[in-house]
This record gives sequence, structure tokens and C-alpha cells, in this order.
Amino acid sequence: MTRKPTRATLAAMVALARAARELAHAPYSGFKVGAALKTHQGEIVTGCNIENASFGLTLCAERVAVFKAVSEGLSGFDAIAVVADSKRLTAPCGPCRQILWEFCGDILVHMSNTKGRKRAMRLRELLPLPFDGRSL
Ligand code: THU
Repeated sequence: MTRKPTRATLAAMVALARAARELAHAPYSGFKVGAALKTHQGEIVTGCNIENASFGLTLCAERVAVFKAVSEGLSGFDAIAVVADSKRLTAPCGPCRQILWEFCGDILVHMSNTKGRKRAMRLRELLPLPFDGRSL
């Protein structure tokens, strides 16, 4: 399990995720999501959902953040903030949980909405019996 970021760091991550959310390309669902992924070293990489007219090609904000970070050579992540404008907090979808597990392990998943409602859970709670390289 990774160390929990400070309250100030989490607040900064939420602010960055909110800003990333504004950049979402979500003309089909109208549901904009932002994410901010943090490394142990303190780098923060953001992502937003990017939809496509061929709906199945849509990428969630969480996966965009992970793939951006990995493609920049970053590794060792301890938390991700996810922000949406929904009353019910937005938790990462199933495929995103799997991708997060692969690259981040048991990170803290901080979910919040634009009204300030929030909840943090460990990825292990969201994905209790993960499939990973050890299963192969
Ligand atoms: N979406 C995310 O970006 N992250 C989530 O955690 C849930 C869903 C996006 C995918 C799609 O563009 C829109 O939200 C509606 O499902």
C-alpha cells in the first residue's frame, strides 16, 4: 500500500483534475470527467475523457492520465483524483480499475464532484480480486 498524500496535495490534485475536466471532449454524453494522477516524486499528470463518434473508442479521463504518464516515462504512483459534475460520485469504470491496478497498484482513488462532495477509497477496495501478471 502506498502512502497517503497530504490534504493540501489532494486539494491541489482535485484543482488540477477540475481544470482538466474543462478540456474533456464529451459531445456525445455531455458527461465531462477530469483526473489527476500523482507520482511518489510529486509529479502530477492530468487527463480528461475523450469521446469519439464511434462510441467504443472513447477513453476515460483516468486512462488518459495513466497512459500520458507512462508514455512520459513516469512510474510509481500513489493517488488519483477523479472529478465529475454528478451528484453521485464518479468512480473509475471497470476497465480503468484494471489499468490503474496494472500501473499503479493499490493507490488512493479520490473521487469528488464540482460541489465539493468527496470520498477516497483504495483501489484494492474497488477491485478486490484483481487479475494481474502474477495470475499468468
Ligand atoms: N468516464 C470517465 O472519463 N471516467 C469515469 O470514471 C467514468 C466515465 C467518461 C467516459 C464517457 O466519455 C463519459 O464519461 C460517459 O460515460
